[in-house]
Amino acid sequence: MKELIKEADIIKRVRELGKKINDDYKDKDLVLVGVLKGAFVFLSDLLRHVDVPVVVDFLSISSYNGTESSGVVRLTHDLSLNIENRDVVIVEDVVDTGRTLQYIIDNLKTRKPRSLAVCTLLNKKEHRVVDVSLDYVGFTIPGVFVVGYGLDYRNQYRNLRYVGVLNGR
Ligand code: IMP
Ligand code: MG
Repeated sequence: MKELIKEADIIKRVRELGKKINDDYKDKDLVLVGVLKGAFVFLSDLLRHVDVPVVVDFLSISSYNGTESSGVVRLTHDLSLNIENRDVVIVEDVVDTGRTLQYIIDNLKTRKPRSLAVCTLLNKKEHRVVDVSLDYVGFTIPGVFVVGYGLDYRNQYRNLRYVGVLNGR
């Protein structure tokens, strides 16, 4: 495993993102929507730097087999909250082709949130297929397969406190 982003840098950046969200969501009705499973570690750290009123919900998407995008995106677990007229921020682990995020945006828009923004820990621009706009980005990284801090390879490595590149990938 090769370390790409060290724990201390993640901690610092997540705090900064939390502060930006605090500035932007004063007097709003903030709903953080975590995309399972990859975003749960990031979301839980980010949430603890948010000090405006906030509620949390999750949805689950199935899109990946191993390291290859199947291209097929499916909602496997829906929100439990009604987001109509609320200020939603989608919290993602990584945006790669952008297909998953575009699917989520299109889906959530039909529910008429007052506003819809995106916060992603990682942005991999190299393989982008769909031009999605990102409001909050932790780190822009090269087009390599990364694990750790919630991100997995075949469900392993989510527990790493840093983001690393698997050997040979
Ligand atoms: P996209 O639809 O190609 O943008 O892929 C987004 C989803 O694929 C993310 O939400 C991740 O779950 C997964 N993914 C993409 N790149 C990586 C990676 O480097 N490591 C782990 N998961 C990844
Ligand atoms: Mg994800």
